[in-house]
Parts: sequence; structure tokens; C-alpha cells
Amino acid sequence: MKIGILDSGVGGLSVLREIRRLLPDIDIHYLGDSAWCPYGSKSPEQIRQRVGQIVDYLLELDVELIVIACNSATIHAVEWLRTVYPQPFVGMEPGVKPACSLTQTGVIGVLATEASIAGEKFLRLVDSTAQGVNVITQPCSKFVELVEAGRLEGEDVAAAIAEYTEPILSRDGDVLVLGCTHYPFLKPAIVSAVPETVQIVDTGEAVARRVQDLLPDESGQGSLVIETTADRDGMERLVEKLVPELLGESGVGRAGIG
Ligand code: DGL
Repeated sequence: MKIGILDSGVGGLSVLREIRRLLPDIDIHYLGDSAWCPYGSKSPEQIRQRVGQIVDYLLELDVELIVIACNSATIHAVEWLRTVYPQPFVGMEPGVKPACSLTQTGVIGVLATEASIAGEKFLRLVDSTAQGVNVITQPCSKFVELVEAGRLEGEDVAAAIAEYTEPILSRDGDVLVLGCTHYPFLKPAIVSAVPETVQIVDTGEAVARRVQDLLPDESGQGSLVIETTADRDGMERLVEKLVPELLGESGVGRAGIG
């Protein structure tokens, strides 16, 4: 069984890590579209067009299921993809629903990209799951830049966390949703910067469970290929920093997409 996973860059590695934990034997092809990162500042049309190209590339490699390990791409492209391709897609969206069941104060913060927060699918999600809860949305473009640069701690990380969490914490928010797959890599820094009473929601594990539910067969060679549309060596360094446990089993390469 072989699956494809895509993201604008290294964010989807946070989802890959959860999938690998649950499904050690399946074969995985990961595509990080670093040449086009970030998706969060692109228009819905640009995101859809690019994601379509990457899906075509992955399908040529005979993957049987594709995980859109990117909230921005899911919000703007997954419904369209499902009308065009017969293959199953697993998407992801910010964990608004679990956050609403956790909040004591009735205020939650959703940290996500600009594109995700403006997306119609996201607005529908909030409408249908967050009745009676005050949902504060916060775009966090610096988080993606920091993670893509391999910076997970330090002064610039602390400053960005303070800037993005202050509008939520000052209004009594007690749950933070990590609504972009890059952000789980900053979770240790976020946890240490916010009060202990603040809970953090990340949907990577739930996505891995959904993939498991959809797979007819969990067997394979357990192979892992990680490709980037930009710099191969840079990707290898980031894999080593962000998911060192995966470097041993994976080959890192440059994808043949423009
Ligand atoms: N990791 C992506 C997400 O979950 C996108 C980050 C970006 O490229 O802006 O939204």
C-alpha cells in the first residue's frame, strides 16, 4: 500500500510523523512544495492550480491515497480535488470542534494561515461547530518562515509567539488551535510561553487515524521517500532537525516538478 502526502514545505512532516507511528509498514511518498512556499499568502486559485499539479505528479507514482497535509490546501482545494479525481483524499482543517469541547472560558484562538482563515470552508466549519464560543482567528505568517528556516527556539521565535498569542490570551482564550501543519514543530516553545491552563489542539494524530480507517490493507515495505521542489540538501537538513527519527528510513530527493 503506497500513499502520497503533500504540503507547501516541511509542515506536513508533522503529519507524516503521526502516520508513520500508526502505520509502520505502508510505503509513503512525501512531497514538500518548498519552491512555492508559503501557500498561506496565495490566492485560492493559485493554491488549487498548484495542488492539482502536485496531485498529478503523485498519482503518476501510483499512490493509492493522498493526504493533503496542509490546512490551506485542504480548505481551498480538497472539495475540488474530490470532484476531479476518483482517488481518496484525506484533508485536514483546524481543530475547532475539539477546541470548543475543551474551553472553560468560551474563548478559543485559531492560529492559521491568512488563506485558511479567509477560506469559505473554514468559515463554514466555525459556523457549524462553534455555536456560543468566541473564536479568535490569528494569522501567523512568521511561524511558517521560522519552521522553514529550522528555527524552533530563540528570541525571534519567542517574539512571534508573544505577538500571535497576546490577542487571544488577553481576551481570556484558554485553547489554542494549531491550524497549520508547520506549527506543531513550535509546540514546545508555545507551551513554555503560555500559561499552564492553556490547552493546545493539533489534529495530526486524528488525520493519521483517518488514513488508517481508509486503508484496505496496512502492509508494504515501510519505505519512505521525501522530495522537495526546491533545494534537496536544505530539505535533508530540515528533516534531520524536525523529524530525525525518519531520516534513517528515508531517501531525500528533488522532485521533477517545475
Ligand atoms: N502547512 C500549511 C498549512 O497547514 C501551509 C503553510 C504555508 O505554506 O503558508 O496551512
